[in-house]
Amino acid sequence: MSRIVVLVSGTGSLLQALLDAQDSAALSAQVVAVGADRAGIAGLDRAETAGVPTFVEAVGDHPDRAAWDRALATQVTAHRPDLVITAGFMKILGPATLATAPVLNTHPALLPAFPGAHGVRDALAYGVKVTGSTAHLVDEGMDTGPIIDQRVVPIAEDDTEDSLHERIKVLEREMLVEVAADLLVRGFTVDGRRVVLGPA
Ligand code: GAR
Repeated sequence: MSRIVVLVSGTGSLLQALLDAQDSAALSAQVVAVGADRAGIAGLDRAETAGVPTFVEAVGDHPDRAAWDRALATQVTAHRPDLVITAGFMKILGPATLATAPVLNTHPALLPAFPGAHGVRDALAYGVKVTGSTAHLVDEGMDTGPIIDQRVVPIAEDDTEDSLHERIKVLEREMLVEVAADLLVRGFTVDGRRVVLGPA
């Protein structure tokens, strides 16, 4: 059974989709640990309710980002993941954590448009007519890694950031489970900016 470590910073509804799908035909993998960059968030409560071990590594508890990155990598490695998933994790990962396992992220916009912490707000402000979510491998940049899948969401005249984000998250949860299963079951290689599913 493949092993997934999930990193969260907030509500954790993407994490919940993974917890609901784990051990099923949709995702024959287990979430073996959930890590966060802050305590007291709903994402950690969801993990505890599901009986999944948790850990917290806050940047402020370390002298600098490199030390935080090494501490986070140590925590992640202890759970021997085949895949790390950043599910609403609002910190850029450093080289030590990126070396632990392939890292999968979803972002609430159609990259390369609107990277960063406010993908939904920025798309609304720009006035685009469609947005969505992007699944991509994580590299050291901000939402710059090779794209695996994208789902499109039309923007309505009366959308607010919250209403639009909720519609994006519905598709994002489905896509995250599907992409995680694909990466783990089919394997993948990276060819330049393309992620090619299938054995190496
Ligand atoms: C998701 O929309 C995810 O794409 C976004 O945070 C939300 C987390 O939702 N992540 C980013 O914006 C990272 N740049 P959740 O806490 O309900 O799972």
